[in-house]
Amino acid sequence: MAKSIQAVRGMNDILPGETSRWQYLEDTLREVVHAYGYQEIRLPVLEKTELFKRSIGEVTDIVEKEMYTFDDRNGDSLSMRPEGTASCVRACMQHGLLHNQVQRLWYAGPMFRHERPQKGRYRQFHQIGIEAFGMAGPDIDAEIIFMSARMWQRLGLQGAVLQINSLGSVAARVVYRTALVDYLRAHEDALDEDSRRRLDSNPLRILDSKNPAMQGLIEAAPRLPDYLDDESREHFARLCTLLDAAGLEYEINPRLVRGLDYYSNTVFEWVTDQLGAQGTICAGGRYDGLVEYLGGKPTPAFGFALGLERLLALLEAGNIGIPVQQPHVYLVLSGQAAVQRGMVFAEQLRDAVPGLQLQSNCGDGSFKSQFKRADKSGAQLALVMGDDEVAEGNVILKSLRDESGQTTLAQQDVAARLQALLEQT
Ligand code: HAM
Repeated sequence: MAKSIQAVRGMNDILPGETSRWQYLEDTLREVVHAYGYQEIRLPVLEKTELFKRSIGEVTDIVEKEMYTFDDRNGDSLSMRPEGTASCVRACMQHGLLHNQVQRLWYAGPMFRHERPQKGRYRQFHQIGIEAFGMAGPDIDAEIIFMSARMWQRLGLQGAVLQINSLGSVAARVVYRTALVDYLRAHEDALDEDSRRRLDSNPLRILDSKNPAMQGLIEAAPRLPDYLDDESREHFARLCTLLDAAGLEYEINPRLVRGLDYYSNTVFEWVTDQLGAQGTICAGGRYDGLVEYLGGKPTPAFGFALGLERLLALLEAGNIGIPVQQPHVYLVLSGQAAVQRGMVFAEQLRDAVPGLQLQSNCGDGSFKSQFKRADKSGAQLALVMGDDEVAEGNVILKSLRDESGQTTLAQQDVAARLQALLEQT
C-alpha cells in the first residue's frame, strides 16, 4: 500500500480536541485588544517578495533563509508572509489609511518561516499582531506594552519578563554601527563565519549571536545605549517613567536588537524561562522609518506580535484550566417516530434557548450505544425520546454527570427548564 500523505514538516493540524483552547485564547486576546479600541485588519497570506525584502531587510535570517518564495504562473516572485507588519504597512499605504490620520490596528493569522522545527518553533505558526500608526510619542509605546501585560494578566499567565531597549534614531545607529564595525574588524579573527558575513551588511545582528565562543567579544563590544542621541534618550526615559507610574516591571536589556531591520528607538520582548529555547512569547517595537522607506510619507509606528503556539504551551506549563467546548445536551432518540419528532424538537429548542449547544443522536443505535455517545460528547444532560414519549408529548431529562436521576417533562416545558439550567452555569 502506498504510504499515506503526511502534513508538511513544521506545519501542524489543530485537531478538534485542541480547537476550544485556541478559541478561548483568541477570544480572550480579542477582548483585550478591543478594550483599547483597536480595529481588525485582514491581510493576504501571499505578498510580493519585494515587500519583505525591503521591509524586514535583505540580510536578515528571515529573508535570507526562511521565506517560502516561489514564482507564480505569471513569473512574479511571491512569498508566504513570514510576519504581518510589512503587509499591514503595505495595505495601509495602498488604501490611503495613513494620510493625516492615526490608526490602531490588529490582525491574526498564520505566518510561515522555514526554520528548523522544534518545540515552540514551527514553519507555520500563528500570530496576533498590533500596529499603531501616526503617533510619535512614548505614550503609545506604553499603551501597547500595557495591552500586552493585560493579556498575560487576563490569561492568568505568570513569570513572563518584560525586556526593553532603545535602538536610537536611524542617525544614531549609523554612528554606533561605525564604532561597532571598527571594534569587530579589530577582532576579525575571533568572529565566526556568520558574523564575518554580517560585518558589512548587518553588524548589529552579530550582537544577537548565540555562539558561546563569541560571547566574550560581544560583552566587550561598544554598547548601543552609549550612542543614543538626546531625542531617543528622552523618548526612552519618558517611556520608562510611564511604565514605572503604572507599576509595570521591566528589565532594560542593552543587547536586545531584534531580528528584523525596520526598528528604531523602543524595542521590547516578553520572555519566559518555562518554554526552553523558544522563550519569547511576544516581541515588537517602534518602526518610524518603514512607511517612508516603502515610499510613503514619514509616519511614526509602533507594534508587536505574539506567538499563539507559545502562549498555549505556556498555559499548559502553568496548568491553567481552559474551558472546553462541549454540548450542554445530548438528545437520545429511539425509533422512527422519535427521530422524526426529535429532529423538529431539537430545532425548536435551538430557536428558543439562545446559546444552547445541543447534539442530536444521528444513526439510530440501542439506548446503550446512544448513552455511550452521549457520555463521549461531554454533555451534562441527556434528553431522551422514545415511542411512548412521542405519543404522550413528553421527554425525559437525565443527568449524565451525577446521580440526580431523571424526570419526565412535557415537551413544551423543556426550553424554560434548559434556559434556567444554562443561567445557573
Ligand atoms: P518576531 O519577533 O519575528 O516579530 O515574531 C513575534 C513572535 O512570533 C515571537 O515572539 C514568537 O512568539 C512568534 N514566533 C516567531 N517565529 C515563530 C516560529 N517559527 N514558531 C512559533 N512562533 C514564532 C514579528 O513578527 C514582528 N512583525 C513583530 C512586530 C509587529 N513588530 C512591530 N509590529
